Amino acid sequence: MRIDLVSIFPDYFAPLELSLAGKARDKGLIDIAVHDLRQWTHDRHNSTDDTPYGGGAGMVMKPEPWGEALDQLLGERSTVVFTTPSGRPLTQAFARELAQREHLVFACGRYEGIDQRVIDDTAGRAEVLEISIGDYVLNGGEVAALAIAEATIRLLPGFMGNPDSLVEESHEDGLLEYPVYTKPAQWRGHEVPPVLLSGNHGAIATWRHDQAVRRTAERRPDLLPASAIADDLDLVPAV
Ligand code: ADE
Repeated sequence: MRIDLVSIFPDYFAPLELSLAGKARDKGLIDIAVHDLRQWTHDRHNSTDDTPYGGGAGMVMKPEPWGEALDQLLGERSTVVFTTPSGRPLTQAFARELAQREHLVFACGRYEGIDQRVIDDTAGRAEVLEISIGDYVLNGGEVAALAIAEATIRLLPGFMGNPDSLVEESHEDGLLEYPVYTKPAQWRGHEVPPVLLSGNHGAIATWRHDQAVRRTAERRPDLLPASAIADDLDLVPAV
């Protein structure tokens, strides 16, 4: 997979040089490049934003630098990801879809966002995805792009040493992950649940599933169908 990231703050992407992307690079799974949007500006001040038509607070990113950047970076089979709080929410299933793409170009907006014509124009020649990482507002799209890139890269076939660890983690089966423990069996007066020391694999699997359902019901009931909550936990008294 090829990944290009475009931003006026390319330093945000320094972490990609570290373990995760570094590992994926070493394995030949990804080829990443970070670009400063200002290289596609032509005025003395390298300006990338201007006041919004129609008035209102804040600034809007100008279309010209983005247009030139995408002209240069897009290939035959590119997907452009615009990070925005008004995008489609990132989920594990969505990250799996992204992991199938050949070329991701992340366009990270700042201020009030990028002139809509950039998105419309890009949609005429590439796949465009507007993605949000949650219902809160960051100062810009860089942190969102990092999160999306990391969630995607670790799903690339061949990235995980042990692919089983992917299957068991939170969100893969629609549930939050069960609690985990390691040695010692006693620590500061807290014990590891005895079932985990029993060697009974069936009982361990049942306990883990029950814990996963309980956690999900408590913390993220929106992830469970109401019937599953009632069935698995007997939360609803029988009448
Ligand atoms: N830019 C600012 N906030 C964001 C969010 N929540 N998700 C994606 N991009 C953003």
